Amino acid sequence: MKTAIYWFSGTGNSLSVAQALHDSIEDSELIPISRAMKSIPEAAERIGFVFPVYGWGPPRLVERFVKKLNAAPGAYIFAVVTYAGNKGDTLGILHRMLRKRGLDLAAGWGVRMPENYPPMGGAPAPEKQREINGEAAEKIAQIVAKLKTSPRGVYEQSMCLWRLLSKVIYPGFRRFVPRADRWFCADSNCNGCEICARICPVDNIEIENGKPKWLGRCEQCFACLHWCPQEAVQYIRSKGQPRYHHPDSTLPDFLK
Ligand SMILES: Cc1cc2nc3c(=O)[nH]c(=O)nc-3n(C[C@H](O)[C@H](O)[C@H](O)COP(=O)(O)O)c2cc1C
Repeated sequence: MKTAIYWFSGTGNSLSVAQALHDSIEDSELIPISRAMKSIPEAAERIGFVFPVYGWGPPRLVERFVKKLNAAPGAYIFAVVTYAGNKGDTLGILHRMLRKRGLDLAAGWGVRMPENYPPMGGAPAPEKQREINGEAAEKIAQIVAKLKTSPRGVYEQSMCLWRLLSKVIYPGFRRFVPRADRWFCADSNCNGCEICARICPVDNIEIENGKPKWLGRCEQCFACLHWCPQEAVQYIRSKGQPRYHHPDSTLPDFLK
């Protein structure tokens, strides 16, 4: 049975999880959600979602994709979300989005991975990153083992308080996201290489007079900032923060 693994990732944490699932699930295909949005793939009988938590819920791109998703009747759908501190009610919100389409989230897990949001201080020190990614690798192995039996009704539920807070935090964050790119800029280290424009999953960056210009439909994935070879892309508090990407992810993985 074919499994379509739909992934979205800014700095490779979620991509590394998607890749591990792909390596362990026979007849699976890795599909970036950004590409699937442009040409919706055929319905699959098994579908996996892998994406980061943004503002205690799913990224807006995931919400838009769920509205277009092709799924076989009775499809087995699972999700693995990556997060840095608190996933809120992300799995519950995804479940409700799928329900509106008459689909069901059969199983869902969260994997704690390094932070990548500059306003929150960005990524932890390299030693801490190794520790977190080491624990994440163990958790991913457990998820892979559980998925072999296609369990149903297995959700890693957050505490009730976090689920309630998600109802406030997530809608606020969702509204703030598209225009939040007004705080991006390229500093004098920018050499106009255009990698930021090529890596943006939603084509939100245009090069104007050799410099990036953000167009107001940002997803806040921060790929443009973390993958800039010159570390020239800046955002709130980012100056002097080390750039981060998961050790198993490379720039070509994102430019493909
Ligand atoms: C815009 C934004 C919002 C985030 N919100 C949350 C959050 O609500 N809770 C959390 O634990 N981590 C949050 N994070 C951290 C990411 O979920 C985490 O670092 C994730 O593993 C990044 O995955 P990626 O490398 O696949 O992009 C946020 C990161 C970004 C960029």
